[in-house]
Amino acid sequence: MANSIINLFFIITLVAVAPLCFSHSTNGGYLYPQFYDRTCPQAQQIVKSIVAKAVANDPRMAASLLRLHFHDCFVKGCDASILLDSAGTLTSEKRSNPNRNSVRGFEVIDEIKSALERECPQTVSCADILAVAARDSTVLAGGPTWVVPLGRRDSKGASLSGSNNNIPAPNNTFQTILTKFKLQGLNIVDLVALSGSHTIGKSRCVSFRQRLYNQTGKSRPDFTLDQSYAAQLRTRCPQSGGDQNLFPLDFVSPTTFDNTYFKNLLSFKGLLNSDQVLVTKNQESLELVKRYAESNELFFQQFAESMVKMGNISPLTGRRGEIRKNCRKMNS
Ligand code: HEM
Repeated sequence: MANSIINLFFIITLVAVAPLCFSHSTNGGYLYPQFYDRTCPQAQQIVKSIVAKAVANDPRMAASLLRLHFHDCFVKGCDASILLDSAGTLTSEKRSNPNRNSVRGFEVIDEIKSALERECPQTVSCADILAVAARDSTVLAGGPTWVVPLGRRDSKGASLSGSNNNIPAPNNTFQTILTKFKLQGLNIVDLVALSGSHTIGKSRCVSFRQRLYNQTGKSRPDFTLDQSYAAQLRTRCPQSGGDQNLFPLDFVSPTTFDNTYFKNLLSFKGLLNSDQVLVTKNQESLELVKRYAESNELFFQQFAESMVKMGNISPLTGRRGEIRKNCRKMNS
């Protein structure tokens, strides 16, 4: 009898503390991978199957979903604020400079949310959908996997100014970009590893044109850009017009998640100024680029670690925020 009481006590304690062993504390709230195990055991499978279908239809979607999570987390934390449409006094983050005519994937998130609402109503947050979809996208493109801590809740607001100011711009200096990462609790290792996301996906001409024609205001191209690569880019990214023309961020293996992005940087074939400065402006980031270019394994391991860290930026937990029924609008 005494033995079974002790056993029972042991089991109850174990169940109570287990989540803490796999979780991250931010603002007193905890995220942990098993968050939906009892309330919506199918959640991750549902996200995965819809992401897989979307990426099979459009391989670029893997990149777009990965980027959505980043643009969400850098503004008020990972709280799905990026998904809200403008309504009443709320101005959508979709209108910000980094997002306008650029971020995509909202329909895929809608489809995932509808499927989850059918399976387990008002249980799985839009913020968690973004985190899981980013992981699944990475895996589908050939990248590393990781266990996603869960339990984020959805914001009841958005921040256009936060979106404009916190998300680094492609023409920001190395120092500004690093500062923007540090403001989110991320460091230079996270910056270099997460920039490795640019191993997949596309950029518009308007995001790097300056490098082709007028890098420093003296009508000269950027000399840290390989000149024959620059000449190729100029054919479809003219001095004026063609703003929306698309170019692979990694021209060697545009839809495969691998370390060729870092190899490109070392041969001065990074597409964005913000990519190339990782090797031209700072010794520590240059060393990191060299290490990731040498070892895909090291890159994958650090990428996974940094994604978990990014996914833990200021989540709403407990009773803060809400579980939206529709990712595009607040419940009331
Ligand atoms: C380090 C600072 C960063 C800057 C300045 C930056 C900037 C950009 C720009 C300008 C584009 C092209 C957008 C367009 O022309 O429409 C882009 C695309 C992309 N970015 Fe970044 N980015 C940064 C970091 C990151 C991070 C941390 C991630 C993910 C964790 C990420 C993921 C992506 C992806 C996957 C794409 C391609 C999206 C698509 O094809 O739809 N970026 N980024």
